[in-house]
Amino acid sequence: MKDASPQTIYLKDYTPFGWQVADVHLTVALSPDATRVRSRIRFEPNPDAPAQRFFLHGEDLRLIRASIDGTEVTPVLTAEGLECDVPEGGFLWESEVEIAPAANTALEGLYMSNGMYCTQCEAEGFRKITYYPDRPDVMSVFTVRIEGDEPVKLSNGNPVAQGEGWAEWHDPWPKPAYLFALVAGELLNHPGSFTTMSGREVELNIYVRPGDEGKCAFGMQALKDSMRWDEEVYGREYDLDIFNIVAVDDFNMGAMENKGLNVFNSSCVLASPETSTDANFERIEAIIAHEYFHNWTGNRITCRDWFQLCLKEGLTVFRDSQFTSDMRSAEVKRISDVIDLRARQFPEDQGPLSHPVRPESFQEINNFYTATVYEKGAEVIGMLRRLVGAEAYAKALDLYFERHDGQACTIEDWLKVFEDSTGRDLTQFKRWYSQSGTPHLKVSDDYADGTYTLTFTQETPPTPGQPEKAPQVLPIAVGLLNPNGDEVVPTTMLEMTEATQSFTFEGLNAKPVPSILRGFSAPVVLMRESTAEEKSFLLAHDTDAFNRWEASRDLARACLSAMITEGAGPDLAWIDALEQVLRDATLDPAFRALMLALPTQAELAQMLHARGVTPDPDAIYAATETLRDAMATRWSALLPELMAEARVDAPFAPDAEQSGKRALGNAVLSLQTRLDGGKAAQAQYDAADNMTMQLSALSCLITAGAEDAALAAFEAQWKDDRLVMDKWFALQVAATAPEKAVARASALTERADFDWKNPNRFRAVMGSLAMNHAGFHAKDGSGYRFLADWLIKLDEKNPQTTARMCSVFQTWKRYDADRQALMKAALERIAARPGLSRDVTEMVTRLLG
Ligand code: BES
Ligand code: ZN
Repeated sequence: MKDASPQTIYLKDYTPFGWQVADVHLTVALSPDATRVRSRIRFEPNPDAPAQRFFLHGEDLRLIRASIDGTEVTPVLTAEGLECDVPEGGFLWESEVEIAPAANTALEGLYMSNGMYCTQCEAEGFRKITYYPDRPDVMSVFTVRIEGDEPVKLSNGNPVAQGEGWAEWHDPWPKPAYLFALVAGELLNHPGSFTTMSGREVELNIYVRPGDEGKCAFGMQALKDSMRWDEEVYGREYDLDIFNIVAVDDFNMGAMENKGLNVFNSSCVLASPETSTDANFERIEAIIAHEYFHNWTGNRITCRDWFQLCLKEGLTVFRDSQFTSDMRSAEVKRISDVIDLRARQFPEDQGPLSHPVRPESFQEINNFYTATVYEKGAEVIGMLRRLVGAEAYAKALDLYFERHDGQACTIEDWLKVFEDSTGRDLTQFKRWYSQSGTPHLKVSDDYADGTYTLTFTQETPPTPGQPEKAPQVLPIAVGLLNPNGDEVVPTTMLEMTEATQSFTFEGLNAKPVPSILRGFSAPVVLMRESTAEEKSFLLAHDTDAFNRWEASRDLARACLSAMITEGAGPDLAWIDALEQVLRDATLDPAFRALMLALPTQAELAQMLHARGVTPDPDAIYAATETLRDAMATRWSALLPELMAEARVDAPFAPDAEQSGKRALGNAVLSLQTRLDGGKAAQAQYDAADNMTMQLSALSCLITAGAEDAALAAFEAQWKDDRLVMDKWFALQVAATAPEKAVARASALTERADFDWKNPNRFRAVMGSLAMNHAGFHAKDGSGYRFLADWLIKLDEKNPQTTARMCSVFQTWKRYDADRQALMKAALERIAARPGLSRDVTEMVTRLLG
């Protein structure tokens, strides 16, 4: 077992491994309780490494035998691996270990899911398969022989030979062990093929369990689109004869980029109109692209150590968001990304879990696959691109691939490529990787004699371990509008480097209205005191779609804030201004759907906290409800018109155009439900022939309290489809009234089909409860207790998923003293649990600060 006593790993302690691995041969003889793994590994001394004792990682392995150059050896076994005396110079290491995949509920290493063998090695799972230097800077060529009766046996690279009961694979590209994968089982494949830019034919397959073969076509198309896009936009061609994707039901994450053998959580690849929502389709397209793009950003060029995780994840998230922008609407994608950043990364960066994009220490690396590393990491790359320009960015990436192909790199390598290819000094920019926290950006302005001056001040509040902050480089995109609504200065990129800095615009004939931080050009909190008139003006006239949306969002925040803290009524002026936007048929329905959405209750809590007001979840919920009722009432004439406009008559397609219409229609339906008690929703439910329409109708019926019949019908229709039933579990908890949320979640856990060891099902209930803001924060602490009970229970089986879910408590210090005490007690109860995993120990320790 892994050592639960906290041991901290530091970036500054990095030392190269003392040997290089020339090649690896693995033979895996499969058996649920006693799989045998034989390894043959050629080690050569690493001339660049200091002298060190030979150490191989290994966890939960039963060593059968080990030898060096054919002579049996007796290594010293430790909790983390083994040590051994080895000859000077190169040698051949051989070992045989036994592992029990059927007993592996952590879903890391080799495990079983519904009878199928599957691996997950990132970050440090390979050490649960065999003894090995399990670190990303040790790259090698793997040959893998799989023995077993399963009809399908897959590993990385190209298939080289097979016979009765065995198959052999060879991956010619040197790779770190975290990219190793093996899959075996009774699987069906959905085939496809792709001709690369140089004319090579690549065989494509999506492997699934029997019954799921009808849900592969969309994923296959997304894969082909991704392959083409990476050729056209980044000049990157695929480099093996075959590319396989496997869908697995039990998976901690969304998907994994193993070389030539991507493994996907089935929820992130299987799709059909009847069973998947538009949001599912879009997510599947993006995640297939993401894992495919890792082939170059992650696999061909990998990370030197896990502190450099953002090198591959931030860049690959940035690339997949570019892909989605190209495939769909760039404006809608940007707004959605910012909503996501504010909902997940901002709370992380403003609470006890705050850490730099490149952390400097960790106890359990699995706890650092965070919104900061991923989403802020992608924002940092977006800023870099904004600063140097699209052309220079493309040139720098060419140099990156040319210079570092086949290497394990650092953020220093990445930035050096930009410095060398653009001539820019990125010393200050690098603070984005080392400073944690979200900068606050204050703005003041002045107009005199045709000259307009914008003065910005940046300040980042202290974060754990970082009391003082230095100014960061901020690309601030600004446009100026004339009082008549015309744009007089088009988008200009200001480059702020000082703590306080002014920028002037000359030759104006009137004081302009500024549109600041267009396209959300830097991940900061913009703190600009502006009037409701100015916001309404931008809502009506801004040429930048993001800032138009932001203006409306600001008005909604201001309105809700006044309702919560001053007992004000809904802001009818804003509702009327928004109506004008909603009536503009030239605007993309998807954009209008985003305009209709209110800030989430969690976002409002965050905003109030930032203004020094203790958020009351019940008051936030009540205000949101009152405002929605007011919108519905005031728009009683508008809603049916929008509903008609949003109708899709063509056969279902999960494309941007249709899904935008459905998003608008369903946003309207939820308001309509407030007027008709669920009549229209029931009609939509009964007529629905796709999951987007069916699920949103069900959601409306739940909020209307008219859901019993529909819930039963849904269950009867979908009880045999795990992924659809996950939605059924999730929606009831997320959409139910707060006072019923905990009871409902609790009742669902009593069901026979609440398979809590399945991460998707666990998250469907527990994750949704945390999303039901006022339900989770029930005054009596029942939400906290319920979640803590389940986290304690899951930790014994699956530390990784448990630890990730601990972040539901990351905002605990925002709330009133009673709630804080209750959350603290819940965390302390988890912390006190004997035998708690290293993963969860680290999380609760950090959360308790
Ligand atoms: N490399 C990760 C998967 C991973 C993360 C494995 C942590 C083990 C531990 C993969 O490329 C990834 O980032 N997946 C994301 C989805 C993606 C679209 C951001 C995921 O699984 O959530
Ligand atoms: Zn990734």
